[in-house]
Amino acid sequence: MSQSAPQHIHAEELATVEPGGDWHPKIVAFLCNWCSYAGADLAGVSRLQYGPNVRIIRVPCSARVNPQFIMKALQNGADGVLVSGCHPGDCHYISGNLVARRKFTLTKRFLEFFGIEPERVQFSWVSASEGGRFSELMNRVIADVKRVGPARRLVKNLP
Ligand code: FES
Repeated sequence: MSQSAPQHIHAEELATVEPGGDWHPKIVAFLCNWCSYAGADLAGVSRLQYGPNVRIIRVPCSARVNPQFIMKALQNGADGVLVSGCHPGDCHYISGNLVARRKFTLTKRFLEFFGIEPERVQFSWVSASEGGRFSELMNRVIADVKRVGPARRLVKNLP
């Protein structure tokens, strides 16, 4: 199980893309192992479709997502970030998801202060039995990020 920050996505890839058309935003999705990751798995097993450029990072609980992980993802070329965990009351660690939601709300406000559009960073609950919800969520996040275009504000080493 990987708990490290997202892998580097080459910023050069961003230089040639324009919003709309065939552009597929890169989305980093931090999914809790017990619910959202299992929901994503179910979406895959059920052959439900969602965009191709989603990089899933499995974390033990949504509370494990350090705000720095989100910053790093955006700095390294992600156009959007999703954090998803168990529904309230279902967290394997009792209240980790509620802690995550509070942390996420503050992180999002902080990012907005730096000009990061709210569509880029999203939080949601998905349970292990909600494969359909997961694929719908991913498609919605991708559509939202497509609307605001490539993220360049925090990307390091832009050409
Ligand atoms: Fe899923 Fe905590 S274990 S959010």
